[in-house]
Amino acid sequence: MNPHLQPWEISADNFPADSFTTDQLEFLLGYGILAPSSHNTQPWLFQLHTMHMDVYADRRRALRVVDPYDRELTISCGAALFNIRVAAEYFGHQCRVNLLPEAANPNLLAQVDLGLRCETTSEDILLFNAIQQRHTNRQPFRPDPVPEALLAALAAAAQQEGAWLQLVSGEEARNRVAELVAGADLAQWADKHFRQELAKWVRPKAQQARDGLLAEALGVKDWLSFAAPTLIRTFNRGAAMAARDREVALGSPVLAVLGTDAETTRDWLLAGQALEAVLLRARGEDLWASFLNQAIEVPECRAQLAEVTGRGGFPQMLLRLGYGPKAKPTPRRSVRDVLIRHKSGEATGKW
Ligand SMILES: Cc1cc2nc3c(=O)[nH]c(=O)nc-3n(C[C@H](O)[C@H](O)[C@H](O)COP(=O)(O)O)c2cc1C
Repeated sequence: MNPHLQPWEISADNFPADSFTTDQLEFLLGYGILAPSSHNTQPWLFQLHTMHMDVYADRRRALRVVDPYDRELTISCGAALFNIRVAAEYFGHQCRVNLLPEAANPNLLAQVDLGLRCETTSEDILLFNAIQQRHTNRQPFRPDPVPEALLAALAAAAQQEGAWLQLVSGEEARNRVAELVAGADLAQWADKHFRQELAKWVRPKAQQARDGLLAEALGVKDWLSFAAPTLIRTFNRGAAMAARDREVALGSPVLAVLGTDAETTRDWLLAGQALEAVLLRARGEDLWASFLNQAIEVPECRAQLAEVTGRGGFPQMLLRLGYGPKAKPTPRRSVRDVLIRHKSGEATGKW
């Protein structure tokens, strides 16, 4: 059995319903860590207290080149937070979240506590069941259209979390977005610092990784995966990536921008929760998603993308959505690895 699948095999049957709040919060974390994160860095840490839990940014896992302001890092933590909320509600607890509770401590992103028991709704069940089914799916999608009602539900899900989801519609706009993605690929791959950072997070297939990107996610063939970090560090594959991503973008039935009206840490946390709300709602209806975020990571492209959406505000994620073949789970660190056990802030896991 592949050990990297283990965190994905968490079973709701094991929820410690009759135990202390701390034990319950620790169990909920098992769902939090299944959230998506940029380069699968899993840049989060958690501290359990008797009645609540603290969610911290782990900036040792920051991507200084591709994400210099920790925007994507914060979005990733927001997505983990949303999973925790969904799981709490599934187990019948109201989840109260206080974002950025201490101005003097910017690493403390949120405080979570469990309120009185509430009734589990069918929506809670749909979202909860989707947590273990959600994976980033970079494969081509079928051309089948996505029902309008589902797209409206996704936009409503984003809005409920304080963000917006804007579809890119019309051939001209879709072409412009595909060109932005391709242009961003060329710009990023031409930068050796970008390649060095990416190479650090790429894991050859044979390695029993607990984080990072599997080489196949970057289109590296299985038999070459052992050499993937070196290949990525050394060669500018920008032209190939641009051609592939242009085609993938244009072939996706839905392209959509998730954004916020402002650009603060709080907005990034809202965007992360909205992102996971959209992804889980989509997955609950059999829809897959992946991201073409390079068009947001390169500042000039981000400004142009904002123009294409035709609305003010700040694009945070560029999504493609559609129906397609199954995607596989990716590695995760265990809950133990991301728990802060001591006041000094040290986690138990290896780094
Ligand atoms: C903020 C953020 C940005 C991301 N950007 C990209 C991206 O530009 N391209 C991509 O292929 N995946 C992107 N991802 C997906 C991650 O690589 C993926 O979540 C991670 O590898 C874990 O895999 P999983 O989502 O299948 O669990 C992004 C995820 C997050 C949360």
